Order: sequence, then structure tokens, then C-alpha cells
Amino acid sequence: MDYQQLYEHLSSYGQEHLLDFWPRLDEQSRQRLTQQLSSINWEMMHECIKNYIQEPPITELPPDLQPAPSFPSEPEDEEQEAFYEAAEEEGCDLIADGKVAGFTVAGGQGTRLGHNAPKGTLPISPVRNKSLFQLFAEGVVRTQEKYCTEIPWYIMTSPANDEPTRLFFQENDYFGLDPDNVMFLTQGMLPAISLDGKLLLSAPDSLALSPDGHGGCLKALKESGALADMGQRGIEHISYWQVDNPLVHMFDPLFIGLHARMEAEMSCRGLIKNDPLEKLGNFCLIDDRVTVIEYSDMPEDLARMTDESGELVFRVGSPAIHLFQLSFVEKLTGDNELTLPFHRAVKKVPYLDDRGRLIEPNEPNAVKLETFIFDALPLAEEVVILEVDRQEQFAPVKQKTGTDSIESCHRLMNERAARWLEEAGVPVPRKQDGSVNCTIELSPRDFVDPEDVRDNVSKIKPPQPEEENYISLEN
Ligand code: UD1
Repeated sequence: MDYQQLYEHLSSYGQEHLLDFWPRLDEQSRQRLTQQLSSINWEMMHECIKNYIQEPPITELPPDLQPAPSFPSEPEDEEQEAFYEAAEEEGCDLIADGKVAGFTVAGGQGTRLGHNAPKGTLPISPVRNKSLFQLFAEGVVRTQEKYCTEIPWYIMTSPANDEPTRLFFQENDYFGLDPDNVMFLTQGMLPAISLDGKLLLSAPDSLALSPDGHGGCLKALKESGALADMGQRGIEHISYWQVDNPLVHMFDPLFIGLHARMEAEMSCRGLIKNDPLEKLGNFCLIDDRVTVIEYSDMPEDLARMTDESGELVFRVGSPAIHLFQLSFVEKLTGDNELTLPFHRAVKKVPYLDDRGRLIEPNEPNAVKLETFIFDALPLAEEVVILEVDRQEQFAPVKQKTGTDSIESCHRLMNERAARWLEEAGVPVPRKQDGSVNCTIELSPRDFVDPEDVRDNVSKIKPPQPEEENYISLEN
């Protein structure tokens, strides 16, 4: 497109201000801006401005909103026990047969944690300070060894952290993984829109862009060729987790088996909420379809509602651990453009004013749009939700201090390691109040589940009180 065509095109959507600095741009900058502007689906953008900026949507929940049904973490009767056993066996077979891939969404930066780098590079393990990526990578190595198989691992980055993420893996020799089995794909970006419906510039030759949300991973899987790669490798199921949760059981045979047995297109782990207002998406049913209502959209009276037995009605929240049938993702990203709903966040976005000065606003001035992966749930014909004991699988690192912080994550990792050791008969020093009286780190290279600890119990030296104890089969 030349300048004139671009100008006319933008004018028809009231966005010609984006070319205000064109006369002073060199050829390279003109190309960069043209490329950005041409990659935008303007018809969709126009609709978004109408539907999300000019007339912001009001989240209206149906009056008969119901909680979504879920499987308990432990079987409740003999029949269910047999069903779980068979499912777990099927899950093991699927992993061993190379039918399951790992997929981590890692588009975020660690800025909120004071770590100015990709979030996955955050040092997090309590003794060795292994990064989130290292913990996952070593867990994949161990899982491959355990099931005598190969597991491809796909990692979604964002344009801002793609290069440092790839470098991190290169510099660390992929933590023992075969680089051919680790694939990076980059998520898309969406322009920030001012409160009066204009797209913003962050530089004379660039729009103010931000990542399109983890819902963008579906499109990214397709466009990067990752889906095709999975197809060629014979993958049938994708195990999805967020980079911020080091306790996740990445390849969980029971979860995978239940998902496969029930022929679910998408499945989710569910957590019993700690508190009615805990910051977790809520699993609900709308028109018989499983739907996650984000904590911020859940009216407080519904969040607090209890049933006859005094339990929360909407008690199952989402730790953002999912499984997808590969064919479901292929279907969603097929011929027609996938349209997950947008969620809007009003934020402070630095922008160029009409004189070309970069303004750092003091007040929120723009809307960022994102799509969320759990909005694919209502599109699935069958969904399995399997509750999980939070102590076992959920320790997200979201902020510096308090809930979901590095500190709470350390504590939860320590406590889980202590439990796994004690269950296997290894004594763990505890204080009078029952808390663990030392720091324990179990290397995921050797221990991805309690069974790994039980099977190697004779090789494990009991942790020493008040010391830092790193437990691996190497030492
Ligand atoms: C998220 C979920 C919430 C869930 C909780 C569990 C959303 C909107 N909410 O909350 O339902 O109960 O986690 O911990 O997700 N990411 C990308 N690209 C993006 C945006 C996010 O890769 O464009 C990744 C981040 O790296 C991170 C994850 O997605 O790993 C979660 O994003 P975040 O914004 O931290 O979501 P939360 O509000 O914590």
C-alpha cells in the first residue's frame, strides 16, 4: 500500500492521525509503520471500538447462573475409584505413546515481581534458585525418562520477551532437553485505543501495542506452524499451563485419562476456593455450556452465595491448568477467523501527542483488549473439570509480597516436598507448631510425583533441621 491508499483506508475509519509523522519518517520507518497498519483487521478494529470503547459492554450474567459440575480430586465411591484407575492407566498410555505435548503460555514479563526479564526466567526454587523454565524443563526430562518417550514442549512468548527467552534456553543448553523438541512461538499484539476511540502511537513509526492475551495462543499455535508440527508428531492432546505456577503437574495421567475417556475437547483442573473472593476465574454453566466468569466480573453476592450445607455455590475456581484435544484447536482455528470475546482493561498507556512528544499519562487513558483462553470452553462439546488439591498443584507467583508471591511460593514448594518425603517414610524435621523446620527442594529432574520419591526412598538422605536441603539422585 502506498501513502495515498493507506491514508484513504485509515480515513474511512477515522484513524488518519496515525500518519501525522509520515513526512519525517525515513524509508525503513515508513515500512515498519505500513507493515503494522496493514496487519490490522480494520473492520474488526472498527467493531471493537464501537463495542468496547464507545459503548463498553456490561457483563450481564443470566439470572439462573449455575456452577459447573466437576469431578472430585479423590474418587468418592468404589465405582468411581475403578473409573479413576482405568482413566489413570489410559493417561499413562497416552503419555508413553507420545500423544501428549506440553504448552506453556509465557508471554509475560516479571516486572511486577521486580524481575525485569521474561517471567519464566524468574529464579524461584527455594534452595538452588532454579528458574520457572528450568523447573518445567527438568520435569519434562524426567517425564520423558519415566515413560520412555519424547514429549515436545511448546512455549508461547510475546514480541517483547521472545528473544531473551530463546537466549535463556540456548545459554542453559535447554536444561537437558533436545532443542528439536522445544519450540517457541510468539503471540500476537493488539493496539491500545484511547478513550475516544483513536489508536495510539508509541513512536512516530509505531503503534502502541500490547500482547493479545493468552487467548491469542490458539491463533499463535496455528500461525506458527506448531499445530501442524504436533499433527506430524502424532500428538492428540495438549497439556496447557501458565508460566507462573511451578507446582503444576504438567503431565498428570489421571487428568489426561479422564479427559480422553470422556472425549472432552477441553478440560480444566478446578480448585476449591480459599475465600469467596479469591482471585480465580469461576467455573459456571451458561446455557448448559461451561464458562469461566473471571473474579472481577463475578458479582459479590453470587461469589458469597452458599447452599443448604453452608458451602459456597460457586466454589470451584480455575488454576488455569487445561487440556485440549488437538482436533479441537484445529477446529477452532480452521478456515474462519476464531473470535473469542475481548476483555477490556483501562490502563495508563504512554503515547505521542499531536506534536510528537511522548506523554506518560498520570491517569488511565486507553483501553487494552485481550482474549482469554478459557473463553474457548463454551465452544467445546464436552468439558471435564477435575478438582485438585491446591497444596499439590497451585503456587502461582504473581506479586512481590503477600498472597501469590515468591515468599508464599517458596513455602508451598517446601511444604509439598516435605509431604512427599513423609508419605514415602522419610522423616522431615518439623517445629512444634507443625511447620517444616528446614528448607527442602526436590529436583524435578528426578521427582515429578510422589511415586518418584517412593521408588527412590533408599537413595534419599533425610533433610536436616534448619538447613537447606537439595534432594536429587545426583548427590
Ligand atoms: C489468571 C486467570 C485466572 C486464574 C489465575 C490462576 C486470566 C485473565 N485470569 O489470572 O482466571 O484463576 O490466573 O493463577 O488469565 N499471558 C501470556 N500472554 C498474555 C497474557 C498472559 O502469555 O497476553 C500469560 C502470563 O505469562 C501468565 C498467564 O498468562 O503466565 C496469566 O496471566 P495473568 O495476567 O497473570 O492472569 P491472572 O490475572 O493472574
